[in-house]
Amino acid sequence: MLESATAKNDLPLEASIPHGAVSLESILCTEELRRRPWRPPDYEKENRALVALAGALVESPFNILQTLAETILDVTQCDSSGLSLLTKDDGGKRFYWPAIAGEWKRHIGGGTPRDFGPCGDVLDQNRTLLFRHFERRYPYFIPITPAVEECLLVPFYIGGKAVGTIWAITHGDRRKFDSEDERIMNTLGQFASLAYQTVESIEDLKLQIAAREQAETAVRALASGLEAKIRRLVDSNIIGIFIWNLDGRIIDGNEAFLRIIGYDRGDLIAGRLNWRELTPPEWQEAADRRVAQLEASGTTQPHEKEYFRKDGTRVPVLVGAAAFEGSSGEGVGFVLDLTDRKRAERAYTEVQMELAHANRVAAMGQLSASIAHEISQPLGAVLSYANAASHWLAAQPPAVEEVRGALDFIVKSGVQASEVVDRIRALVKKAPPRTDKLEINEAVLEVIGLTRNEMAKNGISVRTQLAESLPAIQGDRVQLQQVNLNLLINAMEAMSARSEGPRDLLISTAKTDSEGVLVSVRDSGPGLAPESVERLFEPFYTTKPGGLGMGLSICRSIIESHHGRLWATANTPHGAVFQFNLPPYSSGEKEDR
Ligand SMILES: Nc1ncnc2c1ncn2[C@@H]1O[C@H](COP(=O)(O)OP(=O)(O)OP(=O)(O)O)[C@@H](O)[C@H]1O
Ligand SMILES: [Mg+2]
Repeated sequence: MLESATAKNDLPLEASIPHGAVSLESILCTEELRRRPWRPPDYEKENRALVALAGALVESPFNILQTLAETILDVTQCDSSGLSLLTKDDGGKRFYWPAIAGEWKRHIGGGTPRDFGPCGDVLDQNRTLLFRHFERRYPYFIPITPAVEECLLVPFYIGGKAVGTIWAITHGDRRKFDSEDERIMNTLGQFASLAYQTVESIEDLKLQIAAREQAETAVRALASGLEAKIRRLVDSNIIGIFIWNLDGRIIDGNEAFLRIIGYDRGDLIAGRLNWRELTPPEWQEAADRRVAQLEASGTTQPHEKEYFRKDGTRVPVLVGAAAFEGSSGEGVGFVLDLTDRKRAERAYTEVQMELAHANRVAAMGQLSASIAHEISQPLGAVLSYANAASHWLAAQPPAVEEVRGALDFIVKSGVQASEVVDRIRALVKKAPPRTDKLEINEAVLEVIGLTRNEMAKNGISVRTQLAESLPAIQGDRVQLQQVNLNLLINAMEAMSARSEGPRDLLISTAKTDSEGVLVSVRDSGPGLAPESVERLFEPFYTTKPGGLGMGLSICRSIIESHHGRLWATANTPHGAVFQFNLPPYSSGEKEDR
């Protein structure tokens, strides 16, 4: 309020003594004032005025200066009255008029220079002065109407420092000021000090209130029931908690939080912690999305991300956040260190991979005779075609066409053999899982190839019903073949355990309703005991003397990691059906994970 009033000042900021200006003495008539006859003091009126002022001070302190101006007008019976205060924004180079009553009221906001004007004179001489036609010395008053006849000015001080004047003006010779006016103006001058201090402290208060309101919002939030619980959480240091600002600043954090990111309290106090800087580049985009979410709904769901530790390493964390009420842009974040869990997950995956590998190697061992046969078949073909070729070459004339045909078969069989070897090598090799685009029928057929001889040896008739134009799927060929292999071996073992009854195996593929694929392995073995149906997939559940009980558990985790499902049902009239489905290949699938 005090500063803004100066904006309306229409007077020159600094006025030098203009040429032809009269002396200060010639416009002063303070001595004469004391010689003038004076009216008797009207204490009753004075009291009423002071009471009114005191009331205004309590009830509407923002209007106190105007009330003061009006009181001066009333008790001195002058034509215009007001206050001049030294400006603060420019170090007190001017006086401005925050309050005026009477005919000059429209000049509120105007003012005069500090060093060349009646108010300055009053402060310099540190006493009440009476001016007459001061525009003769200070020409900047000439445009201000109505013109001043007499002006009685009283200084007022705060703590020994001059801050302004109060003044009463007559614009004609209706009345002249007297000593009683001087006395009452001095009284009001003391009151003006009080009024000024009040307004000053209101100004300061406004700034303080703004700052305090912010702090109070935070305190209020912490004081509420929920926040009290949070406080207990903060202190317990079970999980990391920090207070953030959307712009990145970390304002506070508990010990657990500092421990997770490897910083100490000194770093926090020095303002070195910024959650944006703690967030690695590849997590920034997600962070921006969460900021938008926070702004829209006030919270973000807990999510996994990483933070940089002070030493530059990364820590996997689970983070959730909630914004404080109001638009402070601040809130609280909860951080859980996932290092141990991630380590356990990694260890679990490694064990899984080891087991899966062991299971494949075991299957290969079980099928070694069959596999040998699978390879020896094309190799045998190579041998017989090579024999035939040399026979045709020895003929007269050599049967060139037949030789060419034989060589073609030799090449084809060689390729066939090397393919089988490659497949086996892939199954035996330990390699990280892949996500390729696959045709399930191909994968199924290759596995049937590897078991063919073993099936035949066990008197099992193998049939296939493979649907045409199936959707492609996405996954790891070796793993999916391992599933098929385990299911085929289980079926074979189940049927071989029975001394009688047919031994039929049907492997079929089909399209599912959801555009995926379904693979079924049906056998005519003893079937599944109802109580064992759910246990089949448990690790180490086996009914076989030499079984490990890992086959089906590995199959299920492989299928689930491919976003599919594996289950077992009874076959009719007897036997078991093992089925699994897989979603179709989609180019966007990787992003969705
Ligand atoms: N086709 C089937 N018919 C009847 N029972 C089955 C069939 N497949 C699996 N089972 C039952 O489920 C159990 C678990 O099978 P799983 O493949 O997990 O282990 P396993 O075959 O016993 O041992 P391995 O770890 O060598 O595979 C088997 O021991 C058997 O009792
Ligand atoms: Mg098995």
